[in-house]
Amino acid sequence: MARFNFVVNGAQHAFDGDGNTSLLEVLRDTLKLKGSRFGCGANQCGACFVLIDGAVVASCDTPLWAVDNKSVTTVEGLGRPDSPHPLQAAFLAEQAAQCGYCSSGMLIAAAGLLARCPTPTEAEVRAALERNLCRCGSHNRVIRAVLRASGQAR
Ligand code: FES
Ligand code: FES
Repeated sequence: MARFNFVVNGAQHAFDGDGNTSLLEVLRDTLKLKGSRFGCGANQCGACFVLIDGAVVASCDTPLWAVDNKSVTTVEGLGRPDSPHPLQAAFLAEQAAQCGYCSSGMLIAAAGLLARCPTPTEAEVRAALERNLCRCGSHNRVIRAVLRASGQAR
């Protein structure tokens, strides 16, 4: 049992517990941030992606000890309905989802990309999203949305 301190979407949190608890479990079950999804549970699908100090990371595969004194951003931290992130607005404009299960992970992966590369090529967008699976086949719309969010609407 230990205490872990970390920031989530700008708010400081402390968690007392087993350091091997997954970050995804803490986000969803303790902090009630349900945007990050459980898909494979094995760093294979991208549904649970979050940003940790700006890096795109699978929260299902990240133990709590690894985020001690770090800053986590979930999809809830990107924007709000009344002030959406440009990516969220672009996903809506391009209707870049069907069931939406993969969407938060897609948005996080894209946000990580645009933070380090504000005007990516289509190839760079495809490479950044290659770890994100979508069983509904929304990839082409997602790629258009990311390009739109970067000011490169097609
Ligand atoms: S649920 Fe984490 S990568 Fe699939
Ligand atoms: S929109 Fe359904 S899994 Fe991607």
